[in-house]
Amino acid sequence: MTARMVSQHSEVVTYWRGVTSTLAQRGLLRQRRDDGSTVIPSATGLVTPDFVAFVLDMHRLAGVSREQWLDCDLHAQVRATLQGRRVFCADSAGLALVVARNPGERRKRLPARVVLTGDLLPQGEYTVCLGMGREGPVILDLSAGERAILVGGESGSGKTGTVKSIIAQAVRKCGPDKLNLALVDLKRLDFPIFDGLPHLIAPVATEEADAEALASWCVGEMERRQAVMQQAQVTRWDKLPDGERFPLLLVVVDECADFGNSPVMGDLVRLARKGRASGVSLILATQRPDAQVLSSQVKTNLPTRLAFRVTSSMDSRIILDRTGAQEIKRRGLCLCNVGANWQKVQTAFLQEGSEGEWVDVGQVGPVLSDVERALVSYALGELDGAFIVGKLYETFKGQISKRKLADLARTWERRGWLTEPAHATDPRRVMPELAELAGYALDVQNGDRVIGMIGGDRDAQAMTGSELPPFLRDRRVAVA
Ligand SMILES: Nc1ncnc2c1ncn2[C@@H]1O[C@H](COP(=O)(O)OP(=O)(O)O)[C@@H](O)[C@H]1O
Ligand SMILES: [Mg+2]
Repeated sequence: MTARMVSQHSEVVTYWRGVTSTLAQRGLLRQRRDDGSTVIPSATGLVTPDFVAFVLDMHRLAGVSREQWLDCDLHAQVRATLQGRRVFCADSAGLALVVARNPGERRKRLPARVVLTGDLLPQGEYTVCLGMGREGPVILDLSAGERAILVGGESGSGKTGTVKSIIAQAVRKCGPDKLNLALVDLKRLDFPIFDGLPHLIAPVATEEADAEALASWCVGEMERRQAVMQQAQVTRWDKLPDGERFPLLLVVVDECADFGNSPVMGDLVRLARKGRASGVSLILATQRPDAQVLSSQVKTNLPTRLAFRVTSSMDSRIILDRTGAQEIKRRGLCLCNVGANWQKVQTAFLQEGSEGEWVDVGQVGPVLSDVERALVSYALGELDGAFIVGKLYETFKGQISKRKLADLARTWERRGWLTEPAHATDPRRVMPELAELAGYALDVQNGDRVIGMIGGDRDAQAMTGSELPPFLRDRRVAVA
């Protein structure tokens, strides 16, 4: 035996003595019938540079149950006996015990709170920072790995705060051409900060009927995207050529328990199941983790799970398919399966008062791109306010594809920026809101006539005819 082996040997024996003495103190060893002394079990010790793993001979233990073996107090006691070395008991492999050979560096603590700041924004188009884990920032990729997320936890545990920070980061990173939002918040308390964002496909749904319409619109949109992709012979939305790519459609429902067995839930499941290829992502939050709300259908299709504080290990099981969340005490702390393993993450949240900085509707940049503004101008000036896709395409051929133009018309109609055509042959018409975004004021009473340009120091009244674009000059009417 070399000196090194001898020292290893004595180390292993010392650990084993520590373990068995703890087991003896807890009455977990078998007693000899004749003299009442305990039978010291034997074990095989496997030594690695970092760990010693013991595989125990179960028959020598006095019928120790799995629960007793996995008991936290037992671990704590063994650990104390071994001068603070970390101890793990294998859960699935029967009675095995792993002792860390180096009295471990302290496990890094999680910060008590993580306020969302610009530094946390990760690289990557659709990535956002969930918060801080023991190994550092934890990143979600909303377009790929974490595109379908289930968030559970009791009331006041931090679900909405976290969801808001996710949306705020996504909005900060992507303009409305890259990201569309469909938000449902029946409590009406939580999402007003997002109201008015140009990313919204429709106003935040606060009524069940609106939510139902929105969810079914999203399913329709998904199916339309699938058809377009089929025609373009691509299998994934991000394989479409530049300029033709759909924006990521992020659907967020703050409290999905409200929908129980309603058709909304069916639509959400459909989006979760089939939306991947067409760029539809989903976040569902609920404070009522019961099997009725979270059917197996919902759960299998939402593989990313975040559980905040819950009242029982049962609830933790329903959300995560494992226990653990019942031990969470702190607000904003969650147990999740993001990254290689399960981990606890202190989630980032928007500090009160700083919401405006993150979600400044005015600061999102120009709501309309140059081409979009030109399209609206042309529709107002040359087409009498009619948004006729065919005619617009002829004029703007080089600048926008026909498909993109048709998409735009659909989206704007959905947002209420274009009228819904009464008949299939009627064109959509530009609504005052869209005209305003493009920089024109419409005189609604007067048959949608353009009354002038808005913005900056050029208010409509002060404007002379020569400042108007040529096609508007003779349309200018006096503003009272
Ligand atoms: N990630 C977080 N970290 C720390 N505190 C948070 C976090 N998220 C929310 N909070 C705070 O916790 C309280 C409740 O959070 P909320 O998100 O509304 O809970 P829930 O939606 O689960 O009912 C709020 O006052 C909020 O300021
Ligand atoms: Mg909430």
